[in-house]
Amino acid sequence: MGTYALTGGASGIGAALAASLKEAGHEVITVDIKDADIVADLSKPEGRQAAVAGVRERAPQGLDGLVPLAGVAGGGPPGTLITSVNYFGTIEFVNGLRDLVGQKQGTIVLLCSNSATMQAPNDKLLNALLSGDEAESLRISEAEDNGMHYMVGKRAINYWMRRNCMEFAKAGVRMNAVAPGPIDTAMTAPLFEDPEMAPVMQGLLDATPMARMGQPEEIVNCINFLLSPESSYVCGSVLFIDGGYDAHTRQDHI
Ligand SMILES: NC(=O)c1ccc[n+]([C@@H]2O[C@H](COP(=O)([O-])OP(=O)(O)OC[C@H]3O[C@@H](n4cnc5c(N)ncnc54)[C@H](O)[C@@H]3O)[C@@H](O)[C@H]2O)c1
Repeated sequence: MGTYALTGGASGIGAALAASLKEAGHEVITVDIKDADIVADLSKPEGRQAAVAGVRERAPQGLDGLVPLAGVAGGGPPGTLITSVNYFGTIEFVNGLRDLVGQKQGTIVLLCSNSATMQAPNDKLLNALLSGDEAESLRISEAEDNGMHYMVGKRAINYWMRRNCMEFAKAGVRMNAVAPGPIDTAMTAPLFEDPEMAPVMQGLLDATPMARMGQPEEIVNCINFLLSPESSYVCGSVLFIDGGYDAHTRQDHI
């Protein structure tokens, strides 16, 4: 049986993934700001360092898989928090543990989103994120709090994965991403109740061929596939799990 580490294990997709891996008999190390094996605030460099150190202490033999799911979204959190948790909380956790995953020739699955393609790619924030400059990324996020940070951050995670999959593969680590559409979790529930956001969310569902939200388990099944040997030649891929929204709205793109 394997050893897996994931962030965001206290809720939603992360909680469902932790339960599924445990049910399959694996050891699971969870990181979250609450209710986790390692309680750490991934919005802060000290929290990320504590998370990495905590996983190292619990899995000196290496990791079979790593899934950074912790994230924030919606109209509530400021852009700076979205940027620091979703992008830097992901990339620093992954970079800090790459050698441990390599030790077991393991697999990483990143959390992108189908919203990553919903705005133009050339963006100051995107470039700042990809250059790894957190101070500049936070400065832009604060100055331009335009509601785009979530999408830009998810696009940056996708680009970062594609830019780094060669280096990771050489270190024995296969890396892929999933891009869910709206999934029924604590992250999306408030959006359907917000008078401003509810019509936007409904518009997304109206343009979804399967005409419904997804359930956390439907994402977990795909993550489990990407973590497993059944996906042994899948590397650097983004799997859209969105009821067909991306295909329908970007028909001639690949
Ligand atoms: N739900 C969706 O519709 C959807 C769609 C696309 C992508 N995603 C992505 O999937 C991932 C999981 O989302 P979810 O829907 O399960 O959300 P969720 O809100 O249910 O869970 C997110 C988890 O992240 C944790 N977290 C938040 N801030 C943190 C911090 N500073 N430090 C440590 N942990 C922190 C929360 O405590 C929570 O347990 C996220 O990366 C999200 O962007 C979700």
